Amino acid sequence: MLVKLREWDVRTAPADEIASLLAVLNAGLAVDLPDDPQWQADHFREYMAELMPGQRRKSWIAESDASLVGHMSLLGMADAGVIELLVDPRRRTHGLGRQLLAGATRWAAANGYTSLGVEVPGGTPAVAFYEGLGFRLAYAEIRSVLTVAAMDWPMIGEMAEGVGSGYRLEYHAGGPPPELLASYATAKSELPGAGGGSPTDPDAAALLRESIACLRRRGLEPHVVVALHLRTGEVAGLTEVVVPAQRPERADQYDTIIVPDHRGYGIDRAIKARMLLELRTAAPQVRQVQTWNAPDDHALLKINSDIGFRPDRQWLEFEADVATLLARLDS
Ligand SMILES: CC(C)(COP(=O)(O)OP(=O)(O)OC[C@H]1O[C@@H](n2cnc3c(N)ncnc32)[C@H](O)[C@@H]1OP(=O)(O)O)[C@@H](O)C(=O)NCCC(=O)NCCS
Repeated sequence: MLVKLREWDVRTAPADEIASLLAVLNAGLAVDLPDDPQWQADHFREYMAELMPGQRRKSWIAESDASLVGHMSLLGMADAGVIELLVDPRRRTHGLGRQLLAGATRWAAANGYTSLGVEVPGGTPAVAFYEGLGFRLAYAEIRSVLTVAAMDWPMIGEMAEGVGSGYRLEYHAGGPPPELLASYATAKSELPGAGGGSPTDPDAAALLRESIACLRRRGLEPHVVVALHLRTGEVAGLTEVVVPAQRPERADQYDTIIVPDHRGYGIDRAIKARMLLELRTAAPQVRQVQTWNAPDDHALLKINSDIGFRPDRQWLEFEADVATLLARLDS
C-alpha cells in the first residue's frame, strides 16, 4: 500500500481528520482493549491540544488513499518525550508503526530529546513491538476496574463513616476550593517523586490551580474528597477521580494521598468510599472506575479490593534512549 507521512497539528487540523483519528482510535480499542468503552467526539480535539505549561506536542499522521491510517505524537517535557503511536488495525504488521516511530525519533534526536517513554497495555501487540525495538521495561503497574452495578452500597456507606473522630470529609466537584488549595498542594507534595515532606513551594498552589484548569479544558472533570484535620484545618488526605467527556461512563481514579501524620485513622478507605457515594449523584452515568497500582503495594491493593476493584491487566511503561533507538531503527 502507498502510505504518505506528514506533520500534523491537532490544534488546526480540519474536523474530518479529527473524526478519522477518533475512528482509528476506536477501531484499535475494539481490537486491543475490547472491554474498554469507545471514545466519543466530545472534547476529543481539546484532549490532545491542551497542554500544561512547559509541555509541547509534535504529531504526524500516515495517510493512504487520502484516509488516515496512523498517528504518531510526541508529548514532551524538557528532554524526555512520551510516545503515542496508533496504527489502524486493518493496516498493522506492514511496517507502518516502525516507519512512524522512525520519523518521530529522527525529529526527537534533532530537537534535543534524549529519551522516549511509552505506556502500553499488557496483552496487546504493542508489547512485542516496543520490546522488539529494544525498549526496556521501566515500570509495571496493574490496572483494576470497579463495576458500579456490582457495588455493595451498604458496606460502602459504612466505610465512608469509618474515619477517626478528629476528621471531617468534604466532597468538591471541579477540584479543591480556593481556600483549600495551599493545604491540598502541600498534601500532594507527599506523593512519591513529588519531593515529599519538603516545605511548601509558594508556587505549588498556583501550579495546582493551572493543572486543574488544564484538566478541565481537556474535558476531564475532576471530583475530589478531602479529609480535613479538625484541630488544624489542614488537608490530612485526599482522593481524586476524573470523569472524561470522551468516555463519560468510565471514570479514572487518580491520586489518593494520606499525609504521613494522619495514617492509621481509616482515612484512605473512608475518602474512597465517600467518593463513590458522591459520584452516584454527581456523575450518575459512570458505570466503571479504573485505577492503577504498583503490584507490590499490598496495602493499597487490599483497600481497593475491599471497595470492589478487580485486577484487569498489566500496564507497562517502556523507555529507550533516543540515540540507541535511532541506530536500531536505521539498521
Ligand atoms: C504497536 C503498533 C503501533 C505496531 O504497528 P504496526 O504497524 O503493526 O508495526 P510494524 O508492522 O511496524 O511492526 C514492527 C515490529 O513490531 C513487532 N510486532 C508488531 N506487531 C506485532 C504483533 N502483533 N505480534 C508480534 N510482533 C509484532 C514485529 O517485531 C515487527 O517487526 P517485523 O516487521 O520485523 O516483523 C500497533 O499495533 C498499534 O497501533 N497498537 C495500538 C497501540 C495502542 O495505543 N493501543 C491502546 C489503545 S488502542
